[in-house]
Amino acid sequence: MVQENMRVAVGSDHAGFALKKEVIKHLEEMGVTVCECGCMDGSSCDYPLVAEETCALVTVGKADCAVLVCGTGLGISIAANKVAGIRAALCTDCYMAKYARLHNDANALCLGGRVIGAGLACEIVDTFLQNSFEGGRHQRRVDQIMAIADRK
Ligand code: RB5
Repeated sequence: MVQENMRVAVGSDHAGFALKKEVIKHLEEMGVTVCECGCMDGSSCDYPLVAEETCALVTVGKADCAVLVCGTGLGISIAANKVAGIRAALCTDCYMAKYARLHNDANALCLGGRVIGAGLACEIVDTFLQNSFEGGRHQRRVDQIMAIADRK
C-alpha cells in the first residue's frame, strides 16, 4: 500500500510528458497529493530546469519525494543528482526501485518516457513509494555519498 497522505512532486520535459500524465493519474487514484512540475503541454522544455524545479519541492519539505521523467530518464537523473540533498535513481524495473529505497535512500525516482510503458512505470512508482530505507550499514554509505558534495 502507498501511504494516502504522501505528497509527490512529479515533473517532466516534453519527452516525458505523456508518461508523467499517466503517473499523475495513477498517483491521484491512490489518494496521493501530486504537485505537477515542468512541461505542462508537451511543448519543448529543458530537463535540467525541470529537475531543479521539481527537486526543490523535496528539499524545502513541500514534497516527500519526486518522480522525474524525460526521454531516457538519464538527463533528468544527472541533473537531479546535482541538487543538494537529492539522491535520484533511474529505474527501469521494480527490483531497482525497491533497492533504490532500501539501500540508497533515494528521494527522487527517474523514469524514461521513451524507454518504458505506463504499466511498468506505475508499478515501479508503487514499488518506490512502498519501500523505506533500511538504515544500518547503508546509512554509512549514504552519508559517504552526501559527503562527496561537501568536499567540492
Ligand atoms: C529530449 O529530446 C531528451 O534529450 C531528454 O528528454 C532526455 O532523454 C535527456 O536525457
